[in-house]
Amino acid sequence: MKLNIAVLPGDGIGPEIMKQALKVTEAICSKFGHEFNYKEAIVGANAIDATGDPYPAQTHELCMQSDAILFGAIGDPKYDNDPNAKVRPEQGLLRMRKQLGLYGNIRPVMTFPSLLHKSPLRADLVEGADFVCIRELTGGIYFGSPQGRSEDGNTAYDTSVYTREEIERVLHLAYKFAGQRRKKLTVVDKANVIATSRLWRQIAQEIAPQYPDIETDYLFVDNAAMRIIQWPKSFDVMVTENLFGDILTDEASVITGSMGLLPSASMGIHTSLFEPIHGSYPQAAGKDIANPVAMILSVALMFEYAFNLAKEGALIREAVNASLEEGVVTEDIADGGKIYKLSEVGEWITNYIKNI
Ligand SMILES: NC(=O)c1ccc[n+]([C@@H]2O[C@H](COP(=O)([O-])OP(=O)(O)OC[C@H]3O[C@@H](n4cnc5c(N)ncnc54)[C@H](O)[C@@H]3O)[C@@H](O)[C@H]2O)c1
Repeated sequence: MKLNIAVLPGDGIGPEIMKQALKVTEAICSKFGHEFNYKEAIVGANAIDATGDPYPAQTHELCMQSDAILFGAIGDPKYDNDPNAKVRPEQGLLRMRKQLGLYGNIRPVMTFPSLLHKSPLRADLVEGADFVCIRELTGGIYFGSPQGRSEDGNTAYDTSVYTREEIERVLHLAYKFAGQRRKKLTVVDKANVIATSRLWRQIAQEIAPQYPDIETDYLFVDNAAMRIIQWPKSFDVMVTENLFGDILTDEASVITGSMGLLPSASMGIHTSLFEPIHGSYPQAAGKDIANPVAMILSVALMFEYAFNLAKEGALIREAVNASLEEGVVTEDIADGGKIYKLSEVGEWITNYIKNI
C-alpha cells in the first residue's frame, strides 16, 4: 500500500516525539512492504512566528491532499501567559478541526499490565479496562454564538448549538466502533436539564433500532463521571457532545497513570488525524525526556483506522508493551528504576519491530 502522510510536529516536545513516530512508521512500512511518503508542515506557535497564522493555508492544503495526518502537539508559554495575544496556537487547532470536518474524536482508554500500579485507582478496578470515548469535536458550546460579555463586563454567556446532522453523523461513527468491539454503546448526555441533550437522546433513540445487534444505554453525564472511576470495565464505547467529552476523556485518560501513554484519532469528512492526547509539555522541550509512547501509539491507530491495516497496528502495540515490560521507559513512568531518554525508548521500539 502507498501511504502519503502529512506530518505536523507542532511545538514543544512535538518535533522530538514525531521523530520517533516516523522511525516506527518507516520500520513498519519496510517490514510489511508499504511505500511511505511524508511531507512536513507547520502548525501552532511556530506557524504564528513564521507566518502570523497558526494553521496556514499551505498546511491545510497538504492535509487535504494526504491519506492521513500525524500531529504532535501545539502550544507555547509565550502565548499561554499573554491573555492579550490576538492570535493563539489553539485557534489553529480549532480551525484545523473545523476545516477538515473532524467531527469525531476517538480516544481508546486501555491499561498496561506492567503499569497498573501507576493508576490512581485500585488495580482490581482498572485491570482489563478497555473502552473507547468518542467526543463530538466541531459543535456545541465551543463553537456556538453568541459568546461574550455584557458591556459592563459583569455578565458572560456561551451558546450551545447542535443540529440533527451533527448528532447523527457522530452517533453513526460511534455505532461503527461499537460494532467492531464488544457491541455496547453508552450515550452520555444531560437530557434531564439541557435542550441540546434532549435532542441527542431523541436522535439516539431513533437511530438505535438500525443497530439491533448493539446494546445501547443512556447515562447522564454526572453519573458517567462517577461510573468511569467506580466501574471503568463497564464501558465499551461511549459517545458524547463536545464539552462533556472534553472533561470525561481527560478523566478517563488518567486511569492509565501517565499523560504520555495515550493516543487519539480524529475522524470526519476529510483526512483523519492522529495525535497523542497530551499537549506540547514545554518544560520538557528539547531535553529528550518526554514519553514518546502516546505519539507512537497514535501511529498504531493510524494504521488501524486510516488504512485498515490491523497487523501493522498490532505489531506497534506489541513493541510498546514489550518496552514497558522490559522497563525501557522515560522518567514519568520509571518509578525509581532506570530512566531512559525519549530517543532511547523510540530506538528500542523501532529495533523491536525491525528484529522480530
Ligand atoms: N492537542 C494539543 O496540541 C494540546 C492539548 C493540550 C494542551 N495543549 C497545549 O500544550 C501546552 C502545555 O499544556 P499543559 O501543560 O496543560 O498540558 P501538557 O499535556 O503539555 O502537560 C501536562 C503534564 O502532563 C505530563 N505530560 C504531558 N505529556 C507528556 C509526555 N509526553 N511525557 C511525559 N509526561 C507528559 C507532564 O507532567 C506535564 O507537565 C499549552 O500551551 C496547551 O495549550 C495542546
